Amino acid sequence: MGEGGNAVVKLLEPKSGFGTSFAIKQFKERENWPTARTEADILEELHHKNIIKMERLYKHGEKVYLILEFIDAPNLAEVMKKRKGEGLGEDIVKKIIRQLVEALCHCHGRHIYHLDVKPENIVIDSNWKIKLIDFAFSVKIIDKSKVRKYCGTPSYMAPEVLKRESYFPQKVDSWAVGVVAFKLLTGVTPFRGKNADEIREKVNAYELDKELVKNASKEFKEFLNKTLRRGPESRSSMKDLLSLPFLKNASL
Ligand SMILES: Nc1ncnc2c1ncn2[C@@H]1O[C@H](COP(=O)(O)OP(=O)(O)OP(=O)(O)O)[C@@H](O)[C@H]1O
Ligand SMILES: [Mg+2]
Repeated sequence: MGEGGNAVVKLLEPKSGFGTSFAIKQFKERENWPTARTEADILEELHHKNIIKMERLYKHGEKVYLILEFIDAPNLAEVMKKRKGEGLGEDIVKKIIRQLVEALCHCHGRHIYHLDVKPENIVIDSNWKIKLIDFAFSVKIIDKSKVRKYCGTPSYMAPEVLKRESYFPQKVDSWAVGVVAFKLLTGVTPFRGKNADEIREKVNAYELDKELVKNASKEFKEFLNKTLRRGPESRSSMKDLLSLPFLKNASL
């Protein structure tokens, strides 16, 4: 089903053909076991309709497996790829982003921050219902302290992460939500480059391709303006994003 840096995800089907299927995420190396543990501990605390459900963490010999509810649907990156660079309509973008922000609001309310929000980590069914997955980079931080962990995917990483500074994790998720919204509407990410260095330069110069969103509604532009802000202190929280006009009247 998928293979990332640290894990491979496979479908686990009941032999008899009856019963429930599961997704099984197998961590590749022994050094990734702590990642599996973190992901399992975090998922155990999350219970939300837009977040993948964990069944259990299973260790067998030299391997660890994370058993997850299986969603028979592609991830959002695959859906976008099929559209060959063409974006989605604003109503659909709104529906997807509303669910994503609700999921992240649930996480942030429990002091959990995802830190790798991107289309590959969102599974989506034919009714545009989403589940957020892949909490491998996530952190749980009770006090309001900063994080110093260079992680994520360059096109979705906030300026402060790209600069390898310490950062407030909630604001990094807000930035990524803005990038996802832009990508869904236009088919491309707002700051593009061949590698992390090129992307960082674009982000630093704040070279946002505004031309691509010139026909978007003023509500959508306001949403981008509250998420894709260079200064993390002025970026909106998940809770505040939910009450913006763009998301307020999303039909789910
Ligand atoms: N529970 C699930 N149901 C359906 N598909 C899933 C599920 N979990 C993962 N997938 C698919 O497998 C892909 C990889 O899963 P995931 O993002 O969890 O791991 P990864 O990116 O390989 O791992 P890591 O980032 O930890 O190295 C996803 O992009 C998605 O398409
Ligand atoms: Mg992933």
